[in-house]
Amino acid sequence: MNEEFVLELQHITKVYPGVVALKDVSLEVKKGEILALIGENGAGKSTLIKTCSGAVIPTSGKIVVNGKEFDSMTPQLAAENGIAIIYQEFNNVKGLSAAENLFLGNPIKKGIVIDKKAMEREAEKAFAQLNIKINPKTLVGDLTVGYQQMVEIAKAIKQNAKVLIMDEPSAPLTSAEVESLFKICELLKSQGVSIVYISHRLEEIFRLSDRIVVLRDGEYIKTLQTKESHVEELIHLMVGRDLTETYPDRKNTINEDEVVLELDNVSGNGNHDISFKLRKGEVLGLGGLVGAGRTELAQVIFGAAEKTSGRIVFNGKEINPKSPREAIDLGIALVPEDRKRHGALLDVSVKNNISMPIYKRISTASVINSKIEIETANKYKTELLIKTPSINQQVKNLSGGNQQKVILGKWLAANSELIIFDEPTRGIDVGAKFEIYKLINKMVELGKTVLLISSEMEELMGMSDRIIVLAEGHMIGELDKNSFDQKAIMRLASAVVGG
Ligand SMILES: Nc1ncnc2c1ncn2[C@@H]1O[C@H](COP(=O)(O)OP(=O)(O)OP(=O)(O)O)[C@@H](O)[C@H]1O
Ligand SMILES: [Mg+2]
Repeated sequence: MNEEFVLELQHITKVYPGVVALKDVSLEVKKGEILALIGENGAGKSTLIKTCSGAVIPTSGKIVVNGKEFDSMTPQLAAENGIAIIYQEFNNVKGLSAAENLFLGNPIKKGIVIDKKAMEREAEKAFAQLNIKINPKTLVGDLTVGYQQMVEIAKAIKQNAKVLIMDEPSAPLTSAEVESLFKICELLKSQGVSIVYISHRLEEIFRLSDRIVVLRDGEYIKTLQTKESHVEELIHLMVGRDLTETYPDRKNTINEDEVVLELDNVSGNGNHDISFKLRKGEVLGLGGLVGAGRTELAQVIFGAAEKTSGRIVFNGKEINPKSPREAIDLGIALVPEDRKRHGALLDVSVKNNISMPIYKRISTASVINSKIEIETANKYKTELLIKTPSINQQVKNLSGGNQQKVILGKWLAANSELIIFDEPTRGIDVGAKFEIYKLINKMVELGKTVLLISSEMEELMGMSDRIIVLAEGHMIGELDKNSFDQKAIMRLASAVVGG
């Protein structure tokens, strides 16, 4: 045993039917270090860390915690040995309050009765310690994805973990929230807690980590000292080749007179008097902080939430979609942000997920044309580089990023005229991001229209023709491509609306 290591993974192999997810992977975590774990979608990052909690039982290999050897873990063993994991797909209970989630499985009791008040008080303290503003009484299901993730982080920290493993914790957070997350990480590190940090955002890796472990195709590639490495090297190690551009060129022509979507003083679902025009062939970016109302606005346009006043005009006609089905039939698609809640049917195959919105079109007298179905699924598997042994694989068996690609494929196959993308590249690796940007470009070049919601400022500026900023459900400002400026957008996004 090496005294220095709090956690060692030794020769871990994990085989699934048709997939070798991990091949003889070893790594060590030192006390009080921040170790980054990086690799493309499907590289095996989540599978590897899940062996530390027993969520995945290795086919072979050992897990060594403070010198104690285990062939496999259980959630209880992990907790007893000071290992906490924040998963990529949240494990919270939507019907319980933030406080109840924090004390899940371990409630504060007064005698035999659960002491709600005490839990709420403690939760308030735990949140305050992390600088997050959540009312402990709020149902987790009513919180945005960003806040749900924060509850998870608070819960793990409350468990007094010695090793905190985080699978893409920053993905749903905005820049300001990522800053608080970093502060928390550094605070924990100074207290001797070790952190394993998975992220696709390399700038975060450079700011935060001490060492970096790279995985590719289920294999261990290399461990680097963060200070001695650079972006190009990491990308090369992850992808196995060099990538030069970040945002591909596009040749879309925006027709000023051809308005595809017009919102005229639209209110509802937490938004107030939103007005804008979206022109054919345009990518309109929607900026703002988590909770600004961007997803909520998208839901109104998509018929998933109620509009209380104002008009939505689509291709010159006023529309009032009462359900997503109606919106889809009108030619509107929404690629949602939270893949577990709205995106993919996890128990269904890649193929059936992709062809879902087109069933109506490819079926005659309710017989599905399976040839078209297979062709369509294969087309998007190839175009989006979906890593799966077959299009018949159930989506739940794909890596997080690859699930996201299936959802994208599904909406691309629907061939809609207006596509609303809500955080389309969240959790997607660098190589595949580029492919998604190319697809968005191709869509607008073909005369389709895109509304893009993104919390990644670089992406918003790199991909939009125009940006509208929302804050607290109000439209705060609009910027043209030539006046894009990160600071200006941040200022608008943080505007206090009041009144
Ligand atoms: N239960 C399962 N059954 C079959 N294959 C699986 C299962 N779980 C994971 N896999 C496969 O194992 C591989 C590694 O997946 P994993 O989720 O660990 O990737 P990842 O590096 O976390 O990717 P991402 O960045 O997309 O989250 C993938 O090819 C995935 O499809
Ligand atoms: Mg993963």
